[in-house]
Amino acid sequence: MATVPNSSFDEPFFQSADKFFTANCNTGLTFDDITLATLYSEILPRDTQFDTVLAENLRLNIPVISSDMDTVTESRMAIAMALNGGLGLLHYNMPEKQQLSEVSRVKNHVHGLIQDPIKVSPDQLVGDVLGMIEQKKFGFSTFPVVDGKGKLVGLLPGHVVKPRYAQRKIAEAMQPRAQIQTINKKELGKDPIARADKFFTENLGIHKLLVVDDEDNLCGLITLNDVEHITAERTAQFKPARDAHFRLICGAAISATRNAFGDLDKKRILEHVNNLVERGLDVVAVSTAHGFTKGVGDTVKVLRDAFPELPIIAGNVTSAAGVDFLADCGANAIKVGQGPASICTTRIVAGIGIPQLTALYVCSLAAAKKKVTILSDGGITKSGDVVKALTLSHAVICGGIFAGCDETPGDIVEISGSHYKKYRGMGSMGAMKAGSAARYGHGKNPTQKVAPEGIEALKEACGSVDLVLAQLIGGIQSGMGYLGAANLEQLRAKARYIRVTAAGMREAAPHDVVELKTGY
Ligand code: XMP
Repeated sequence: MATVPNSSFDEPFFQSADKFFTANCNTGLTFDDITLATLYSEILPRDTQFDTVLAENLRLNIPVISSDMDTVTESRMAIAMALNGGLGLLHYNMPEKQQLSEVSRVKNHVHGLIQDPIKVSPDQLVGDVLGMIEQKKFGFSTFPVVDGKGKLVGLLPGHVVKPRYAQRKIAEAMQPRAQIQTINKKELGKDPIARADKFFTENLGIHKLLVVDDEDNLCGLITLNDVEHITAERTAQFKPARDAHFRLICGAAISATRNAFGDLDKKRILEHVNNLVERGLDVVAVSTAHGFTKGVGDTVKVLRDAFPELPIIAGNVTSAAGVDFLADCGANAIKVGQGPASICTTRIVAGIGIPQLTALYVCSLAAAKKKVTILSDGGITKSGDVVKALTLSHAVICGGIFAGCDETPGDIVEISGSHYKKYRGMGSMGAMKAGSAARYGHGKNPTQKVAPEGIEALKEACGSVDLVLAQLIGGIQSGMGYLGAANLEQLRAKARYIRVTAAGMREAAPHDVVELKTGY
């Protein structure tokens, strides 16, 4: 076996997790307190593997999860996350019925078939469409035209959606129905993408395929761009995360719901999770700010008894005892993080919480013993943080880094010429009033007397989550390349840590230059 070049001189400086965190055991450390040392490598960043197994029936192709927050993950984000190989956790600040529909949307998503395309009506003006494109920041300008009943009547091509035609009615600008090539949804067969691919090859110059039913109602749209993207994806390194039936995977969060007497409402919890599972849910997350509690433990136990095979995520905790407790109750993956999040005020309001890396290390000791996995939840602001988190955990959960993406709920707001999306903590007063109060141990209708543990904020709009994930993944690949880690298990085993000072942190970021473009 080839020897790995190393030197004993390095050892006291660049320490393994056990040595490093034990030596720093009375100081809580977080991402910016440390840096990772480079190691001998034969691994090129592009050859690294990041699939991660969070439970027996839960494998992700990238170790990234979007947070169960009402300004981050609904079906659109969950679809995008799964398409990129990760996982979205649907939030629970919505009626249970709506959460069920959200799960169905993810599970029924046919990649490439836009089931509910943006449509326009023949009576609108081209100017109305231009206004809508501007307001919603659409990156496309061709729209199907339907009548009041949803019947296809035409196609508004992008080349007439111009200010010079603003006063024209769509009815006169559109291609009429008779000139549009469509396909009946029955003809799509088992592989709609292959069928659409054939259609686009046969029909030179057509970029959009409209899908109709027997009554000529519009029921979908497939674009050439998407088809080409998907065809390329079949050979790509990061494949969508799918279940055994080739559907995208989907997670949903629930709370430890209580009844009018203050007792855990086991019946309601079981009924709802049963409905979620019937819709194809792959993992349930019992999501609260304080997971080391009887209420969360009992909820996990009830679910484990009723659904022996269902992967369960539970949290949040920051101690080994908390991990032991939830693992013994039946959780498979434990969320670690109290107070690191970008919109969080728990440490300020309640005075509790542990800096994230120390919390992860302590929890990872218990997790290894109990054979459960841990998820680093909160505090990620750059790809380097993800690499550091993954040296001690199996995946990261992110809210803030995704909150400005097109796929999050809510509209883009414009302030002084810049574009933003709203992002709020689930412990903020606004979110608690919308339903998340139980997550923070408060009653259904929080009043002024309740101290919020999160803020309401804005994040700069940043385009598609695909781009954000590409940056994160690129960073993880670089980090793994520097450590000579071919996969995440090797990353955890090989990581060597050293503390940095404030001066070291300053040195780590761009300095003494006028920055033109941020590179991270
Ligand atoms: P980031 O840093 O990615 O964190 O924005 C997302 C995580 O923050 C947690 N969360 C909160 N924590 N008060 C808190 O103390 C809150 O109001 C709050 N809302 C969300 C949650 O774990 C999420 O995944």
